[in-house]
Amino acid sequence: PTTREYKFTLSEVQLSPDGVFRTMIAINGRFPGPLIRANMGDRLIINVQNNLPNGTAIHWHGLFQNGTNWMDGTSGITQCPIPPNGGRFTYNFTLENQFGTYWYHTHYSTTNGDGPVGPLVIHSPDEVKMQKYYDVDQVVLLQDWYHDYSQALLPDYLASGSENGEPVPDNGLIQGTNYFNCSSLDSDSGYVCEQNSTRAVLTVEHGKRYRYRLINAGAFATFQFSIDNHPLSVIEADGTATEPLSVHRVDIAVAQRYSVVLNANQSSASNYWIRAQLNTFCFGDDNPVLDADARALITYTNSTAAPTDSVDWKDALDVECIGLNSSLLTPMFETEAPPATIMYALAANFQIGDYAIDRAYINGTSWVMSAVPTLNQAVAGLEAANSTFTTLGVSSAFSANQYVIDVPDVAIVDLLITNYDEGAHPFHLHGHSFWIVATSPDQYFDWSTYPALNTTLSNVLKRDTIMIDAFGWALVRFVADNPGLWALHCHISWHMESGLLMQFQTRNDIMRT
Ligand code: C2O
Repeated sequence: PTTREYKFTLSEVQLSPDGVFRTMIAINGRFPGPLIRANMGDRLIINVQNNLPNGTAIHWHGLFQNGTNWMDGTSGITQCPIPPNGGRFTYNFTLENQFGTYWYHTHYSTTNGDGPVGPLVIHSPDEVKMQKYYDVDQVVLLQDWYHDYSQALLPDYLASGSENGEPVPDNGLIQGTNYFNCSSLDSDSGYVCEQNSTRAVLTVEHGKRYRYRLINAGAFATFQFSIDNHPLSVIEADGTATEPLSVHRVDIAVAQRYSVVLNANQSSASNYWIRAQLNTFCFGDDNPVLDADARALITYTNSTAAPTDSVDWKDALDVECIGLNSSLLTPMFETEAPPATIMYALAANFQIGDYAIDRAYINGTSWVMSAVPTLNQAVAGLEAANSTFTTLGVSSAFSANQYVIDVPDVAIVDLLITNYDEGAHPFHLHGHSFWIVATSPDQYFDWSTYPALNTTLSNVLKRDTIMIDAFGWALVRFVADNPGLWALHCHISWHMESGLLMQFQTRNDIMRT
């Protein structure tokens, strides 16, 4: 194993990813952030310096952090935000028992939508089994994009009477760039726009197969991803290697990852569009289907000419608003999910609360970031976020606006998450991945079916982010074997900020010793 050390300096910069200049957050002055590439077993040391005017923390999305909960990078849960204007924090952890496609992003309010995101890829000798399907390995980063700073959009979204009108993205980006037509902006809009913005170009060699590691690093929208004239073969979902599944298009929700293989076997006389259509349709009536799409170009010949006979494939195996039917994806490495030893039912909804402010709730609690991280509340005497668990008692009383389920030691947990909202939501669990036991577009779970579902499951897909349909539910299962405080939340940054987050406290037996 190797120790890999990075320095991340976060600062506000003026950049124009799609031609429109705006204030955004860059890591080391760059956008997107650098690729972190490591082997299973390696140690990562990331020295973060926060030159932003607000606090920050960096979360390593999908990493288990087993035994290093305080490195999870969640503001108000596993650490205090890194102080603004020069504060420092060093993340230091090992990459155990997982490989595949992950990413990192700030975990402080809605700032992750302003640019501080990047890919994190873990390799393993087990990857050999997948490598027979491809010759070249590459990350393809997708994200929705706003022309305004998220903190500037937030007050309106959270304002009294605004009723779930999420800010709608202005564009989509592939590899941090896309074309934008400046003339579509009002002349008095005040934006500085350069008409010569460009799209990414991915060059392929005829006869080779390319593994594209898709990451939806956006704030809000699902992408419908396809490559003209080329079927794709899905071989990974959120770090789980899968048997190849052929698709024409794949829907990828915020924070999800898929690896797809493209076989460069089409005529090399043409170029082909890579399309990533933003879909906000699934977030309820108020949100329009955006015409905007993110595009990039596949070329066999290094030509940047627009495609001539590119065919847009729209047919998909996707279930509308949910994405790929998980039962179509078979893990490449067999896993067995034992029956659950405990089950929790969670209800997620939005309500008009005090002052007609629309807030999100899970089982009646709307999360607000705690000034004292819940980890510090749980472990008495824990002072610095990077000290170790050496202390006293575990308290079950947390401060206001924290809904924490204290899971019995080493439980196998079934979670029934019911979505009472008119929009679909991508739920993400920190510190664990979960098997997808069952999902439904219907609001009511038939409890008489539960005994039949609570059995040993073989070869069911495991992932860390799942789209739950509007007025639907999902039943997922995880092994609560990882000591600490772990968030479960909707990954749409607007929704997390309006309270759609709860926490699990697991392995208290270890936390106590
Ligand atoms: Cu991508 Cu709470 O995380």
